[in-house]
Amino acid sequence: MAGEEKKLKTAVFQEETRIFNPPKDLVENSNVMKWMKKKGFKTEKEMRAWCSSDEHYLEFWDEMAKTYVDWHKPYTKVMDDSEMPYFHWFTGGEINITYNAVDRHAKGKKKDKVAYIWIPEPTDQPTQKITYGDLYKEVNKFANGLKSLGLKKGDRVSIYMPMIPQLPIAMLACAKLGIIHSVVFSGFSSKGLMDRAADCGSRAIITVDGFYRRGKPVPLKQNADEAAAGAPAVEKIIVYKRAGVDVAMKEGRDVWWHDLVKGRSEECEPVWVDPEHRLYILYTSGTTGKPKGIEHATGGNAVGPAQTLHWVFDLKENDVWWCTADIGWVTGHSYIVYAPLILGMTGLMYEGAADYPDFGRWWKNIQDHKVTVLYTAPTAIRMFMKQGPQWPAKYDLSSLRLLGSVGEPINPEAWMWYREHIGRNELQIMDTWWQTETGTFLNSPLPITPLKPGSCTFPLPGYDISILDEDGKEVPLGQGGNIVSLKPYPSMLRAFWGDKERFMKEYWQFYWDVPGRRGVYLAGDKAQRDKDGYFFIQGRIDDVLSVAGHRIANAEVESALVAHPKIAEAAVIGKPDEVKGESIVAFVILRIGNDPSPELAKDAIAFVRKTLGPVAAPSEVHFVNDLPKTRSGKIMRRVVKAKSLGNPVGDISTLMNPEAVDHIPLIV
Ligand code: PRX
Repeated sequence: MAGEEKKLKTAVFQEETRIFNPPKDLVENSNVMKWMKKKGFKTEKEMRAWCSSDEHYLEFWDEMAKTYVDWHKPYTKVMDDSEMPYFHWFTGGEINITYNAVDRHAKGKKKDKVAYIWIPEPTDQPTQKITYGDLYKEVNKFANGLKSLGLKKGDRVSIYMPMIPQLPIAMLACAKLGIIHSVVFSGFSSKGLMDRAADCGSRAIITVDGFYRRGKPVPLKQNADEAAAGAPAVEKIIVYKRAGVDVAMKEGRDVWWHDLVKGRSEECEPVWVDPEHRLYILYTSGTTGKPKGIEHATGGNAVGPAQTLHWVFDLKENDVWWCTADIGWVTGHSYIVYAPLILGMTGLMYEGAADYPDFGRWWKNIQDHKVTVLYTAPTAIRMFMKQGPQWPAKYDLSSLRLLGSVGEPINPEAWMWYREHIGRNELQIMDTWWQTETGTFLNSPLPITPLKPGSCTFPLPGYDISILDEDGKEVPLGQGGNIVSLKPYPSMLRAFWGDKERFMKEYWQFYWDVPGRRGVYLAGDKAQRDKDGYFFIQGRIDDVLSVAGHRIANAEVESALVAHPKIAEAAVIGKPDEVKGESIVAFVILRIGNDPSPELAKDAIAFVRKTLGPVAAPSEVHFVNDLPKTRSGKIMRRVVKAKSLGNPVGDISTLMNPEAVDHIPLIV
């Protein structure tokens, strides 16, 4: 049985044979190639292996830490593993991340360089350009305001704001004082904010009166009021006036941002902290319903994100970088706030929706501001695919020179569309695999890497990523298993806020007692390498179907379905089956201009059978208008499954589109 299963696992893995080599000038001028030449590396493979090896990885990180960051006091030890799995980095040093992200640029040559180009959603409001000099003053005034409220190093502050410049300003002001920020995505409900603010004992909430969404002001402050009612440590609510929405201000507790900064000094001494001092707590969902507060350290998050951004997205002095994520997620923390600022780059921030006033908005932003590097998510790409290539085609995207993807496996179909319609069939796509827990990309192409659609290629230099079977043995090429990190790295998570037991259980326990595997980090994703060693992420460990004893990743079937020319999106679940254990059921959204029919359902099934083999073919295909998604755009298979099988769907308050649940038919 085991042998047969192995064979089938290989059989359902869709071998990717297309290779996209990077253009010569990209390779020759890349930041990573310059470093390789300096060091005398001949090949990418040799370089990646050297940097991640037992003998050299600490030497590598030592060099990177000194390259990208100014240390107030030099560290004496690169890494200390004596309290594994609580790894400590840059022991004995002192640092301030805001000093690195803002002060050193504002006091140097980059004072007048634009740090953020901010585009408000309403088309009649002007774009703002914020220089490093401006950012310095705004951060300092706000930090002095926070100080005046008695907030200090080690306190927690929840930040609940939309995509406006005051969000990074608030984060940087906290970090300047050693206050630990906990950003809560502004799309979460008051309960979401309350649970998080209460869990980490926030002393203050920073929010706005309201913000714009698809042209209309949406109130937000009231949510903060409701949250504060259930978060007893909250003493202050600071409110930035963004949309001119009427709000109630509670005497003694609530303060307007503009009043708080009025007359404050534009200078503020950084509070120097130990590199392990917590920079932020960011909540993410785990296997249970309760969100986990991931603790991130200051030193590691000053080094890892900046280094990876510089190498992977190859940023140069005149680039205009646009990461389309919301700062409420880790992608925004690392790659809108800390990394680009530490590198002294110009980044674009857009306040609103991708379809406002129409599906051309993003492409207009790129045209207007000559964006050179675009980093987005497969869900956005599929949304644009569904609308058709006429939208990007209307705009001049010739300033783009590199593309990126993050958040979920990018199905080869979307990858090809992205390259063709956004990347004019020329641009390389950096598919970065990482997590809230990791703080930086772990697996990713570099500008010098030959690409395969749908693959995040190889572990980055300094990261030792592997695929193990349940017993801790490395799986051979062509077979799947658990993707793990064999070594610590600077930006890794340090702990769960207030829950040591769960921290141990979720990431470390699995291989803890396997000889030679203590300290191996279980990422919770399933992955497979092809014969050339390219990594393909197949989705979460818990999102695996078991059909007639064979393990099939939901994501793999979904990827095959969306390669069908008439299908835009798909969610695949397992329906209990007396004989096979589970049968595969697919819910699909058709591309515009196609109508559901029994023939099309049959055709879709035949299509998957042909692509992946009979074992992975769905037994049923249902057409739907919408699928429930998280705020970050991931389809919630759990909800699709519960609704279609007639089980309770649980809490859906954090979904982006809770009404989509009604579209899911009952199938039992
Ligand atoms: O399953 C992987 C998927 O997203 C998970 C992490 O989600 P989150 O913590 O919300 O962070 C998202 C932004 C980093 C991973 O465990 N994931 C992320 N990037 C990729 C991916 N799956 C495949 N390919 C990727 N590039």
